[in-house]
Amino acid sequence: MYYQGLINKYRKYLPVTDSTPVITLNEGNTPLIKADNLAKKIGLESNLYLKFEGSNPTGSFKDRGMTMAVTKAKEAGAGAIICASTGNTSASAAAYGAKAGIKTFVLIPDGYIALGKLSQAMMYGAEIIAIQGNFDRALECVREISEKYPVTLVNSVNPFRIEGQKTGAFEICDALGKAPEYHFIPVGNAGNITAYWKGYREYFKEGIIKTLPKMMGYEAEGSAAIVRGERIMNPETFATAIRIGNPASWTQAEAARDESKGKIGCVTDEKIAEAYKMLASTEGILCEPASAASVAGLIQANKEGLVEAGTDIVCILTGNGLKDPDNAIKYSNADVKKTSSELDDVLRAMGI
Ligand code: F0G
Repeated sequence: MYYQGLINKYRKYLPVTDSTPVITLNEGNTPLIKADNLAKKIGLESNLYLKFEGSNPTGSFKDRGMTMAVTKAKEAGAGAIICASTGNTSASAAAYGAKAGIKTFVLIPDGYIALGKLSQAMMYGAEIIAIQGNFDRALECVREISEKYPVTLVNSVNPFRIEGQKTGAFEICDALGKAPEYHFIPVGNAGNITAYWKGYREYFKEGIIKTLPKMMGYEAEGSAAIVRGERIMNPETFATAIRIGNPASWTQAEAARDESKGKIGCVTDEKIAEAYKMLASTEGILCEPASAASVAGLIQANKEGLVEAGTDIVCILTGNGLKDPDNAIKYSNADVKKTSSELDDVLRAMGI
């Protein structure tokens, strides 16, 4: 049977029964790409792998959690779902809502989501509400609305989201035949680091893996609430996906860090941009800026001597760079040469 999504693949680890109506877009099964060029470039003496979550159906890791959350909402007979989002969650909720035939409401910070993500939610037919406030405020709103009205919250505070997202850890272990020694991941609302840690622990408990990775989470410096130990009222970063000042899964992220003897650190926008460009130019992988925080974190941790040589390292690239063409064009510094269509002019433009 051909691949039919992560619920079917990992159903024994997920809260579904044979009668659960699975809502799937065949998400998951994303490539784990060996990144030797990048490893060499950054002076890493270990095996580096990139888990490219941008190849999910809506272009981000959110689809892993959304297939579970929307499946369970459908099973419970929900009439509507709602989420707050910096963009990817709204795109994913809208797509799975469309597939399930459930009305979808999304709250986004006006002016701070990448155009590709907005266009997705529009095309999938969600009701889009752009608020004059940031993600943290939008999350407060949707939490309150879902408590008062018959609409199911599908942010990662919904435990089914975490259940779906933990399958990313299963895939990595299945591919490597073991757990990596280090797991680098961007941190925004902190659901994904929570989910991966849960996934690794479950495989460990089952005896499928014999060791656990150190969880290395990285926030953007201007939004580094966990690193600073306090809510940030006005979070800033060009990596708008992780422009979050009050992560909902803060405690769970700290638990993942402490239990795994890992780290939660932060990286500057400048370092995120550097990693973003490096990924594209050395590995041919265009991720979105927030995703590059994992690689920026690795570069920083390696310089700090935190990464042991001869190990297996996985960086999660959470979203597809095509979602954010504005930043891709801005940071590429590429020169598009315009010429007439005469062959001589074209050759001249090529430098021949
Ligand atoms: N990378 C991308 C591309 C994201 O969209 C997000 C979160 C993260 C990393 C951080 O993951 O929140 O689980 O720690 N995006 C959410 C959204 C907030 O609304 O799309 P996290």
